[in-house]
Amino acid sequence: MHFQNTRAFAAETDARDPLKKYKEEFIFPLVNGKPVIYFTGNSLGLQPKRTRKFVEEVMNDWGEMAVEGHFHAGKPWWDYQERFAGPLSRVVGARPSEVTVMNTLTVNLHLLMVSFYRPHKARYKILCEAKAFPSDQYMLQSQVKFHGYDPADAIVEIAPREGEHNIRTEDILAKIDETGDELALVLMGGVNYYTGQVFDMKNITRAGHQAGAVVGWDLAHAAGNVKLELHDWDVDFAAWCSYKYMNSGPGNASGVFVHEKHHEDTGIPRFAGWWGHNKERRFLMEPQFDPVRGADGWQVSNLPVLSLAPYLASVEMFEEVGMDALIAKRDTLTTYLEFILEQVDAAIPDSTFEIITPGNPEERGCQLSVFLHGQGRPLFDYLMKNGVVTDWREPNVIRLAPAPFYCSFEDMYEFGQILTNGIKYLSARENR
Ligand SMILES: Cc1ncc(COP(=O)(O)O)c(C=O)c1O
Repeated sequence: MHFQNTRAFAAETDARDPLKKYKEEFIFPLVNGKPVIYFTGNSLGLQPKRTRKFVEEVMNDWGEMAVEGHFHAGKPWWDYQERFAGPLSRVVGARPSEVTVMNTLTVNLHLLMVSFYRPHKARYKILCEAKAFPSDQYMLQSQVKFHGYDPADAIVEIAPREGEHNIRTEDILAKIDETGDELALVLMGGVNYYTGQVFDMKNITRAGHQAGAVVGWDLAHAAGNVKLELHDWDVDFAAWCSYKYMNSGPGNASGVFVHEKHHEDTGIPRFAGWWGHNKERRFLMEPQFDPVRGADGWQVSNLPVLSLAPYLASVEMFEEVGMDALIAKRDTLTTYLEFILEQVDAAIPDSTFEIITPGNPEERGCQLSVFLHGQGRPLFDYLMKNGVVTDWREPNVIRLAPAPFYCSFEDMYEFGQILTNGIKYLSARENR
């Protein structure tokens, strides 16, 4: 597509967008009386209007039926999570039995590590990306210590080369090879939260297996954003939060993937609870744990239905639209945003942005991380005051995630105008 930095071009492209009507399905905060341009779907997605209905349904059933709702609610609560299996498996490229929803992300990664990080004297190392999301770093360190190893020795980090922002796949593969027989687990973010780099999950998983390791992924920034084929890639396990691209609400429930090949192995150690027990026999209150043969076998507690309700509203929307349509729009929209940033940068003599996200659409989802060599923090503050919601990451990075569900081409154009005005305003103020 030949892009133009004009409102007319943006409006025409929106008019042709098959997902156009979904913008109307979300609630936008207002700044100066106008809906914001929302770039932080990579942090907390907007609220879909239909979510309220899903939550009210549970509230009403609870009010009208109380305990009877477990079995007799419109959507009975005792197996509420099963409604996710079909639609969510299509979001992450899995079989329905391989996905479940429960707890929150870091908690689930801990639970999955109980099963899949089984270090022993000869093979105890974990490979992860340098500067992984802090919660993952703390999690890995605490797991390693829990097993009696030293994080400085057991955690192998792979970083970008000097002067580069992204980690080369060849370097990851070489590090896996080098760690070899000592490698127990590869656990990385599928999409790096800071740079937006999408890792080559397929080949990294294959290399991890060739080295004899288990391979898991933190998909917080990947679920609902990039194409995933977890089953076919032979990923052992994965978990993700639902409040980013999946728009399920603050701190909400996490999705979990456990590959089918592990389902029949009831000997895999796990921290068990009654919701992971054989569904037919759960209420016989037997003493002997018999796990459900599927990802549901990793469930622990009975379901937080009020927090699953918004997530169910969200997976219904993903089911309607499909990942392929979202990804098609995401690529054009993100590339248009990149074009707008380049235009702004070229028009202003002193402004130097550096996009640290890979330029290749295969290696990015819907996030551009922009290193501001010029104005930095004051420019971020200007954007926020003028209706552009973005986020700031030290030392000088703003992250812009044009989520295809609710961001438009006109938003990108408008953003370029606000950004240009902000840079001019701040440099005039500086020169005063
Ligand atoms: C990559 C990544 N991992 C883990 C987390 C932690 O998620 P939670 O607080 O839901 O455990 C986040 C949160 O933003 C994240 O971005």
